[in-house]
Formats: sequence, structure tokens, C-alpha cells
Amino acid sequence: MAEHLNVLGIAASLRQGSLNGHLLAAMVERAPAGMTVTVHGDLQSIPVFSEDLEDGGGPEGVQLLRAAVARAHGVLIVTPEYNQAIPGVTKNLVDWMSRGEAQVLARKPVGIAGATPGPWGTRLAQATLRHTLTACGSLVMPLPQVYVRSAPEMFGPDGRLQDARTDASLRRFMQAFAEWIGNFRR
Ligand code: FNR
Repeated sequence: MAEHLNVLGIAASLRQGSLNGHLLAAMVERAPAGMTVTVHGDLQSIPVFSEDLEDGGGPEGVQLLRAAVARAHGVLIVTPEYNQAIPGVTKNLVDWMSRGEAQVLARKPVGIAGATPGPWGTRLAQATLRHTLTACGSLVMPLPQVYVRSAPEMFGPDGRLQDARTDASLRRFMQAFAEWIGNFRR
């Protein structure tokens, strides 16, 4: 019997009503049988990175995040795009996760996605994130890729996905991510 996969999901926005939070929630709902995605919601407790804060393993919120990443079979990072790159929140998370003795991002299967009200669907942010995760030794899924543009129209007032094409592409993405993680567990 195939191993049950536990995935950690992170939406890298602190905003109430975040579109990327909505997108992550939609992905959680579309996880295939045999995969559970747990959202790591406590990003407020992750301070801006400084090497001065690293003594003793770093702040508690960072240690909890790293432990959750270490336990997970894979990590799903859903990022906004700011000024044609990843926001500071996203980069800060990666910088914290990349440090520490455990090196939790190294050889970790990672899936990335993003949503924006704009027309380009976070293409440049995802390219930046892919690049920086590769520098950390993560195994970033190459394909399929998910770019959610015109995002406010994709989600209803309750934040639930209401677009059939995005629904299908998220299902494909989540199935592919399960297979991607499986490649490294045989
Ligand atoms: C943006 N936004 C944006 N969108 C985009 O597609 N490309 C971009 O380069 C930018 N740049 C940008 C800079 C700054 C400083 C802000 C605050 C916003 C719009 C952005 O995609 C939008 O605010 C999203 O709603 C942010 O994601 P969450 O917080 O809703 O998940």
C-alpha cells in the first residue's frame, strides 16, 4: 500500500482575505487520496531574519516552522508577487528555513503556486522563488505550473474557488505533486 503523504502548505501573505490564502485553501481541498495538506498559518511569529537571532536555534516561531517542514514529505508554497519578484515575507521564510543544522529545505520536494489580481499570474515571483529554493537544495516540481491571474474573479465572496478551469488545473497540479514526492520515496 502506498505511503500516506503529509504536506505542509504555506501561503506567504500576512493579509486578511489573502488571495494566496484562498488559493492554498483550494489546493488543500483538491489534494488527492493519500495526501493530507496541513496549513502552517502562524507567519506573524517569524521575525525579519538576522544572524543575531540565530543563537539557540532561533525564535520559537522559526523552530516550529522548521520542525513542521522537517516532518512533512513535501512543502507547498503559495506566493504573491510584489514588484515582479517575491515579497519580503516569502524570501524571509525561505531564508529562515534554509538555516539551522537540519537544513530542512535540502532535498525537500516543494511545489510552488501563486495568485494575483494582475494579468501575468505571478510568473516572475514564481521564477524568483524557484531560483532561490534551488539554491537551498530543494527539489522543486518543474511541471505543471499554476499561475492564477485576475484572482478576485476566481474566488467568491466567501473565498472559495468558483472557476472551473482553475479547479481542473489545481487538481492536476496536486496529483502531479503527489507523484513528484513519490519519486523520492522509493
Ligand atoms: C503588488 N501587486 C503585484 N501584482 C503582480 O501581479 N505583480 C506585481 O509586480 C505586483 N506588485 C505589487 C507590489 C506591492 C508592494 C503590492 C502591495 C502589491 C499586487 C498583488 O498581487 C496583490 O496585492 C495581491 O492581492 C497580494 O497577494 P495576497 O496578499 O492577496 O495573497
